[in-house]
Amino acid sequence: MNLTAATPIHTSSYPPSSLHSNPFNSISPRPSFSSFTPRRFSPLLASSSAATTPPSLHMDSHRLHKGIAEFYDQSSGLWENVWGQHMHHGFYDPHSSVSLSDHRAAQIRMIEETLRFAGVEAATAVVDVGCGIGGSSRYLATKFGAKCRGITLSPVQAKRAQEISAAEGLSDKVCFEVADALNQPFSDGEFDLVWSMESGEHMPDKSKFVSELVRVTAPGGTIIIVTWCHRDLGPSESSLQPWELKLLQKICDGFYLPAWCSTADYVKLLQSHNLQDIKRADWSENVAPFWPAVIRSAFTWKGFTSLLRTGWKTIRGALVMPLMIEGFNKDLIKFAIITCRKPQ
Ligand SMILES: C[S@@+](CC[C@H](N)C(=O)[O-])C[C@H]1O[C@@H](n2cnc3c(N)ncnc32)[C@H](O)[C@@H]1O
Repeated sequence: MNLTAATPIHTSSYPPSSLHSNPFNSISPRPSFSSFTPRRFSPLLASSSAATTPPSLHMDSHRLHKGIAEFYDQSSGLWENVWGQHMHHGFYDPHSSVSLSDHRAAQIRMIEETLRFAGVEAATAVVDVGCGIGGSSRYLATKFGAKCRGITLSPVQAKRAQEISAAEGLSDKVCFEVADALNQPFSDGEFDLVWSMESGEHMPDKSKFVSELVRVTAPGGTIIIVTWCHRDLGPSESSLQPWELKLLQKICDGFYLPAWCSTADYVKLLQSHNLQDIKRADWSENVAPFWPAVIRSAFTWKGFTSLLRTGWKTIRGALVMPLMIEGFNKDLIKFAIITCRKPQ
């Protein structure tokens, strides 16, 4: 795979961010864990070359899929109860103080800011890759009058997405199924908007993930990836620091995530497909109020009792939430948007 193609890219921080400000500083970091077995974090190489793929990775992928499906099967009802139909971060003005009631509006704002950043003003056929219970699909179908297809690994989510859509009279516009983003059940070039809102972090093979996004995009269509990344490596670095790997591993275990990559890694992958107008931004400051709010919601009576009823996978996810805040605090985790266009 050629990762060195020289497509110019535009980088922006949006709104402009101050390098040293720490939007999460109201939450104290959690101490590091000591019982960690380091794993290789080189998703691009590991996934694109059989020679560099450890034999265990394929088995891990299998287990990962099952884990992801069960995690969302178990936790989606609770999330919907407390947070509604969008299973992604909200977008906030940096350093703003927000009340609990602002968060649903902030999730809608995330979709709008994403479209604005990508310069998308119309769409006719959308694929929602990692669709949750279909919040983005319904929003985009309604906003643009587009047809949307959503895929998720969770049968519970796909069923619930269909139910809500039927109740909202959108069954003729949106439809959902259980399918793997790395092997999508769609023809080449089917969609003029390819939308991945906070699903990329679950993909064990980032190279295949990007290839599939590119494959299903129509000529002239837009690809949007909003995802969790680790920080870009410095010029003299070949990997993250051991403490960083350790922190990410704990988060991976709680949220069923495979190896992480950086925003720069995504840009390289997109460049290797000769895509146009590749743009990236770090929105970490804009999502800062989100995790503290999710943690607060878990301590409400409704949140707490529902959490106890959902099962161990969800509880384990809840327990690593403070580590997400620590990762953002320490500039290790980045909330990234990467967008591009397929040439005509
Ligand atoms: C955090 S949720 C985001 C849901 C949705 N995009 C939203 O914003 O409401 C992550 C989603 O990615 C899906 N996902 C993870 N890995 C996937 C894969 N390999 N193929 C398809 N969907 C996947 C999960 O099933 C889940 O629906």
